[in-house]
Amino acid sequence: MTDPRLAVVVLAAGQGTRMKSSRPKVLHRLAGLPIVAHVLATARELEPASVVVVVRHERNQVAEAIETALPHAIIVDQDDIPGTGRALEVALAALPEGFDGDVLVLNGDVPLLDVDTLRAFLAEHRNAATPATVMTAMLADPTGYGRILRDPDGHLARIVEQKDATEDERAVGEINAGVYALGVAGLRDHLAALTTENAQAEKYLTDLVAALRAAGSSVCAVPVSEAWLVEGINDRAQLSAAAAKLNSLIVRGWQLAGVTVQDPATTWIDLTVSIEPDVELLPGTQLQGATSVATGAVIGPDSTLVDCEVGVGAVVKRTDATLAVIGAGATVGPFAYLRPGTELAEGGKIGTFVETKNARIGARSKVPHLSYIGDTEVGEGSNIGAGTITANYDGVNKHRTVVGSAVRTGSHNVFVAPVRIGDGAYTGAGTVVRKDVPAGSLAINVAPQRNIAGWVAENRPGTDAAEAAAESGTE
Ligand code: UD1
Ligand code: CA
Repeated sequence: MTDPRLAVVVLAAGQGTRMKSSRPKVLHRLAGLPIVAHVLATARELEPASVVVVVRHERNQVAEAIETALPHAIIVDQDDIPGTGRALEVALAALPEGFDGDVLVLNGDVPLLDVDTLRAFLAEHRNAATPATVMTAMLADPTGYGRILRDPDGHLARIVEQKDATEDERAVGEINAGVYALGVAGLRDHLAALTTENAQAEKYLTDLVAALRAAGSSVCAVPVSEAWLVEGINDRAQLSAAAAKLNSLIVRGWQLAGVTVQDPATTWIDLTVSIEPDVELLPGTQLQGATSVATGAVIGPDSTLVDCEVGVGAVVKRTDATLAVIGAGATVGPFAYLRPGTELAEGGKIGTFVETKNARIGARSKVPHLSYIGDTEVGEGSNIGAGTITANYDGVNKHRTVVGSAVRTGSHNVFVAPVRIGDGAYTGAGTVVRKDVPAGSLAINVAPQRNIAGWVAENRPGTDAAEAAAESGTE
């Protein structure tokens, strides 16, 4: 149920200099989604009356990602004045007129915070009935974070940023998580009064704490139980650490839901993936995007599936597949490359060193070895010989190959598309199929073989071959 007294503000205007990236920091990906999308998903779960997101750096790109993740978010542009304090100031201006509830501020670069932690935090804030509550954490290495400075009696006094801190202050292990619950009343005036007199010449949101204290209000500091919840992403090392942590949570979730994961450390599963119980994931498996895996399937080792649908009991070994449908009981790999538009029906096989693209392969049909099958349709129960190539591209246009059901094609064929091979037809080894093959026919077009007796003795005298031929007693 919507909480009419709650607004969430997500700060996502910063450049993220420490990422050293042309991509805005909050658009780097974690478990298949941009960093900011994780924050927005959590924001949505809180069911606030409104979600405001502040943008500036690469504004259009970031706004597009926000609209995808949370279409009803209100996107607000930060102006030339830098800093998290300014960001919140412009966000407040976008709140519906007359809103007088609580504002929950989230940093767009802190993606692992979960909704339960936030709910508990908000409840503490509301119980304490103070104008502001700050989430804190104890970190083994607090470097880079704002430090929590408390009065001798333990009350929160102020927050000092790493760059402004003295050596003693930097020794403090309690950090500001960048999550705040704030009563909106009076907030605008305090934010307007913040200055940029600090090491970064920014309006620090964190200075709000000292300002509130100076005005005689008390501010609560509430520590979270586990530090990883609030770890921010400022550089690529923190990005990979957060990705690994999130992945371990996702893997554990699937394990508890009945999925066997042999090696959690090398199994990477996007948040957007769905997996049924009794699936087995072998080491080195990556499941990405809208991939779904049905019960009994075995994926891996060393397989990457992007936006794929895997049927009941299918086996997919050492495979790279994108936008492919793999039917129930089908087998794929080892060493298969399934490109978009591959549809392998029930009980079918795409085997070793086989590449497919726009290929519908019918039930129980097999492409077992060393083949390229593109722009192709194969009926049911057919077998495509080893080393078969569909020549689908004439240099200008792509053409289709249509193979019927119960077809047996020979090894090392080329199907020069457009071409059709009728039901139950056969082709000989080495056939270059340029014309349609009617149902039930055998197509052969290799020149008849000639054996020239004694050729080796005559043309390669004294070689191992000539000797072996002589010893065999036949010529
Ligand atoms: C901030 C806090 C720090 C805290 C840490 C927690 C301030 C001044 N410092 O530091 O105390 O320990 O988060 O992770 O708030 N942003 C804007 N507009 C801006 C600047 C930043 O929207 O002008 C956004 C960024 O996109 C980012 C968030 O605010 O999502 C935090 O900014 P960042 O520069 O990463 O702040 P930190 O130095 O990490
Ligand atoms: Ca940060």
